[in-house]
Amino acid sequence: MKFRIFFIYINIFISFNLYADNNVHQWSEQEISILQTLSIDSLAERPDEQSNAFTQNHDAIALGHQLFFDSRFSINQKVSCASCHVPDKYFTDGLKRSKGVAEVLRNAPTIVGASYNTWFFHDGRADSLWSQALGPLEDRSEHGASRSYYVYQLHSDAELKNAYEKIFGDLPNVTDQKRFPKHAGPVKDRKMKKAWQAMAKDDRAAITLAFVNIGKSIAAYESQLKPAASKFDHYVRAVKQNDDKQKNKLFSQQEAQGLRLFISKANCIICHSGPLFSDSEFHNTVTPPRSLKNYDWGRYKGASSVLRSKFNCFSQYNDAKDKNCDELTYIRRDKEHTIGAFKTPMLRNISKTAPYMHAGQYASLKEVIKHYNNPPTTKIGQSSLLAIPITLNEAESAQLEAFLHTLDSAVDADKRWLVPPRH
Ligand code: HEC
Ligand code: HEC
Repeated sequence: MKFRIFFIYINIFISFNLYADNNVHQWSEQEISILQTLSIDSLAERPDEQSNAFTQNHDAIALGHQLFFDSRFSINQKVSCASCHVPDKYFTDGLKRSKGVAEVLRNAPTIVGASYNTWFFHDGRADSLWSQALGPLEDRSEHGASRSYYVYQLHSDAELKNAYEKIFGDLPNVTDQKRFPKHAGPVKDRKMKKAWQAMAKDDRAAITLAFVNIGKSIAAYESQLKPAASKFDHYVRAVKQNDDKQKNKLFSQQEAQGLRLFISKANCIICHSGPLFSDSEFHNTVTPPRSLKNYDWGRYKGASSVLRSKFNCFSQYNDAKDKNCDELTYIRRDKEHTIGAFKTPMLRNISKTAPYMHAGQYASLKEVIKHYNNPPTTKIGQSSLLAIPITLNEAESAQLEAFLHTLDSAVDADKRWLVPPRH
């Protein structure tokens, strides 16, 4: 009798475990099609960057690589794009808020895979990768100089000048300092702005065109940086092939359960969708504001900035043959959907890019998950999170976190793009 009970017990134990094993790696047809939408295999071969005719130009990529790492392109000669987008930190800086010439108000996102975005910056105030690059160059706290200064820097280095002219044609002859003051641009600095306004219209246009080309070269370089396939992507391939051995080898039960939560009960997929785990849209996730007095309006201001931008899709610098600017034409500007809303960030390699959120509000993924599990009651704007809380228990929170780690991967790029150019 005793033996029999033991036997039944063992049987239940075994079948329970078998059941759990199978169950966690067993996905319905519908789930499999959802998983495939998240897989890197559904990322287009090349991002659609028609607004930049030089995206695939090898010389432009190489020039962009030089400029990305060159700290001469800043007012104090100390800041380059790579100061805040550090290759070893998956092209972020590990700081809550970045420091250039001065501290900035936001956290540096990665640029790996950024070429696939529709909008750039946390508030989407740029609508192309090349126009994004012009932002930090003329920002007071980042590179801190002006467009005429950058053209001057290009012009004064024979190698850079040659590289530029081979791609884009002659640089304006900035040696004539009467026509081309060294520090001039439509920036906040009053002296630089005044010098800019005093320049002839054609000279301003020539400087601006060269400045735009700097942005297009840097964007061509950035487009080379893509996320490689992660453990998650290999798992989805195994799921698709129904390869039980591979499934078990690739994902622990915990990771598989975390993935299931991600696409179901935890609702993450509502916004973190597609192969980069971002819907490219703006949402108010009631992240505690950096400052209530100096509130960051997010998309509310970002939307009007991109419409005002001289470098947006409508501009003469857009290289596309058939300009399609629907994103701008139908841009959402209503307060309800834009105040305190920020762009859904990509989640690939998320474990390597702490701290999190637009101003680095959270130090760890644990804190982020805790936020979604128990969101603060919003003070400003309207929450985009579902009214019904997701209520994950501790084990589930750990599963979700374990899953997020499966999105780690290397950067898919030629090795030389991951280090500064030789000089
Ligand atoms: C002082 C640090 C700093 C410097 C220097 C800097 N960045 Fe950034 N970068 C940031 C921060 C912070 C953000 C987010 C800013 C925002 O949303 O307002 C950002 C955003 C971006 C984005 C947008 C990514 C996305 O998904 O929206 C790209 C691309 C980028 N930077 C590329 C560059 C390039 C190219 C340069 C050099 C020309 C550069 N950055 C210089 C800190 C910096
Ligand atoms: C309503 C849309 C939405 C939902 C649902 C959502 N997110 Fe987010 N997520 C965002 C937005 C928007 C941000 C950026 C917020 C900010 O910067 O303040 C973000 C930020 C994050 C970040 C930080 C990324 C970074 O680089 O700083 C992580 C991690 C994250 N979400 C994971 C999750 C997980 C896990 C879930 C499910 C529990 C989830 N999100 C649900 C929209 C959403």
